[in-house]
Amino acid sequence: MKLEREWLASDTGTGENDILLNGNRMLTGNGYMGYRGTVEEAVAADMPATIVNGVYDKNGDKWREPVCIPNALSIRLETASGRSLSLRSESLFRHSQSLDFRYGIFRRHTEWRFDGNTAPGERGFVRVESERFVSMTNAHLLCERYLVTTDMELNGERLIDGNVRDINGPHLESFVCSCDTARRALILTAETMEKKLSVAVVSASAWDTAPAKNFFSGKVERFTIQGTPICGSTYCLYVFAGVAAGEKTAEAALAAASSAAFSAEFAGGGHSADAHTAGGHSTGGDSASGGHVSSGEYVPSGACVSFAAERYMTELNAHRAEWDSIWERGDVEITGDEFARRALRYNLYHLQIIAPRFAAPGSRDVSGGLSVPARGLSGQTYKGAIFWDTEMFISPYFLYTEPEMVKRFIRYRVETLDGARRKAAEYGYSGAFYAWESQETGDDACSLHNVTDVFTGRPMRTYFRDKQIHISGAVVHAVREYLAATGDFDILRDGALEMVLECARFYLSRIHYSPLKKRYEVLDVTGPDEYHERVNNDAYTNRIVKDVFDTAEFCIAEAKVRAPETLASVMDKIRFTDELPLMRAASADLYVPAPGADGIIEQFDGYFQLENCSLQDVRSRLLDPKEYWGGANGVASETQIIKQADVILLQTVFPDEYTEAQKRANFAYYEPRTEHGSSLSPCVYALLACAVGDTDWAYPFFLKTAEIDITGESKQFAGLVYIGGTHPAANGGAWLSAVRGFCGFSVTNGEIRVAPRLPPSWEEISFSAVVRGAAYRISITKDGYTICKK
Ligand code: IFM
Repeated sequence: MKLEREWLASDTGTGENDILLNGNRMLTGNGYMGYRGTVEEAVAADMPATIVNGVYDKNGDKWREPVCIPNALSIRLETASGRSLSLRSESLFRHSQSLDFRYGIFRRHTEWRFDGNTAPGERGFVRVESERFVSMTNAHLLCERYLVTTDMELNGERLIDGNVRDINGPHLESFVCSCDTARRALILTAETMEKKLSVAVVSASAWDTAPAKNFFSGKVERFTIQGTPICGSTYCLYVFAGVAAGEKTAEAALAAASSAAFSAEFAGGGHSADAHTAGGHSTGGDSASGGHVSSGEYVPSGACVSFAAERYMTELNAHRAEWDSIWERGDVEITGDEFARRALRYNLYHLQIIAPRFAAPGSRDVSGGLSVPARGLSGQTYKGAIFWDTEMFISPYFLYTEPEMVKRFIRYRVETLDGARRKAAEYGYSGAFYAWESQETGDDACSLHNVTDVFTGRPMRTYFRDKQIHISGAVVHAVREYLAATGDFDILRDGALEMVLECARFYLSRIHYSPLKKRYEVLDVTGPDEYHERVNNDAYTNRIVKDVFDTAEFCIAEAKVRAPETLASVMDKIRFTDELPLMRAASADLYVPAPGADGIIEQFDGYFQLENCSLQDVRSRLLDPKEYWGGANGVASETQIIKQADVILLQTVFPDEYTEAQKRANFAYYEPRTEHGSSLSPCVYALLACAVGDTDWAYPFFLKTAEIDITGESKQFAGLVYIGGTHPAANGGAWLSAVRGFCGFSVTNGEIRVAPRLPPSWEEISFSAVVRGAAYRISITKDGYTICKK
């Protein structure tokens, strides 16, 4: 995929892998739902998917995962002799698809040609151009304009396609499919298997140009198009689809989907006969399509010719206006480095389309808790679960651009506190042990056997679930950062105080005191580096545990002054009083591995005793490219090769506790030993390199982070399991590298500071930041900087 122009990503690939990758790269969404960047005729193998944030299902004893909603925008075409038109057809002549990432608009332009040989008896051309968007102003609405230009006779069908590819499905049952002929709509309702939550899809259409034949039959809309010989005719179809999922009743789901599909304002439209023009738009065989859709900028088609066209334009304009205001708050502009500018904006786009702007499914509360899954809304990978990625990598961008989003992320953790309590109790601990893979209840979706061994095909025992205890620390860290950036202490009243104390209590029950060493230790954990399981005193984990104790102390002190009644009722409710002195002692005496004489911090006890070999050595030991590097027999497990930033993360999260020399020493030591097997890793190295003023070290890591969803060069399959998708943590990491890293942006006591160290090619970078309710515009050049109140 190329970023050929400003705000435009495009690709011409049609191979199986291109189709899967473009599904991720050209994802559109509005935070309520994500719609993959596939074409209208996509079949299950192409993985079209509509994912509604927060709606999960479990089929039998398979992994619980997001529900893939039936495809509301499915359209299939075939020639009169029955040859279907798809990206796999022999007659495919050319294809391109693009994403306008300023406005979240997907476009495709595909042509098929028949020369009488490959398709005996058939000559002619077919061109399909479409444009679609997931409305930023209506949670449930998908809008599409679909144009066919042809000089042939074609038959087509439009359907709500329930044949979607699930990883651990199927997830829906009790399907009811119907059509409302009067309103030209296809209607589907279904229920999830586990919780019997309702799903509804209502897909209404209108033709600008009436096809030769057009009727609704059963659950499909059928049409026949008769193109004018040689020069061809253009037929234009509009689709307005409503999608609702996770509702308690079918009526509620249907009402939400219907009100999106049928706009009251345009009621009376939606009939093919309402077109104000007659006959097809004639265009030449090879020429562009009369200006309706180009592969780049949106080109209006002139006067709106029907209610449908008018509605489409109205919805599009509202959608674009919303995006304008999103960018007003959230854009970062880099001059002097075209690729960096485009790539960073592309990453920010991917964060914006998953940001929870609307009420969670089944709720009407737009400020209610909702978070973002580690693969965004791009599919079912990683069980659609929320990881620590949100708090440590995604939150910072929103914290300074739309702090309300972070409030919703925190609220999600507050609302799932009981799940974290259940997990702590399950392992015999107290307090809140947050899930490694958290879904809507906060219970851990992570299985004890989360990787399948490529040699035996058997599930491998992994310890992500039981031993990666640092996630409760990430949750608390995000609260502390939120308080510092916004000054909004009301969240303590809204459950955050109780949550922080419960996390502190969990760690109090989890740490051990060594009477001989006279210190507290954190034993038997897996740190961020997942290749080394069940280690003692992982430096990052120990430090984040101490941070939780200190934040709990801080929150108690703040609540004493700002919300004494909350403090009293929380203390009374969870009976935390006994823990207070213990927590203070634990914080004071908790062992945090310190830098040695050479400045290097040992990642965990005994790490330096592991085999000291190169990344190449370890890679050469693989017997299968898909082999897992960690676990009992992993090629990296007994070596110093690590999966992702660990000590380096420690030094970026707690930058003031280490000297520049210590940071340099650790970068030099750990970087050659890091596989960067996680998309969370490169941005951390970029940040530390910036912290020591080394932009030459930092820049390649910034690129590696920013390019991950552009190149799509991350792993797509683990064995037979699809693990591709978008990488929101890396998207957030791109912002972190640019703004915290190269600009040295930080906030201390409500005051913005910058410490610029721009890459040589960057002439200027400017961005907005909201701090304690006030909006600022910050511009940095090689010669200086300005921080202006907006
Ligand atoms: O949270 C990460 C983890 O750190 C590495 N494996 C993938 C997870 C989800 O992104």
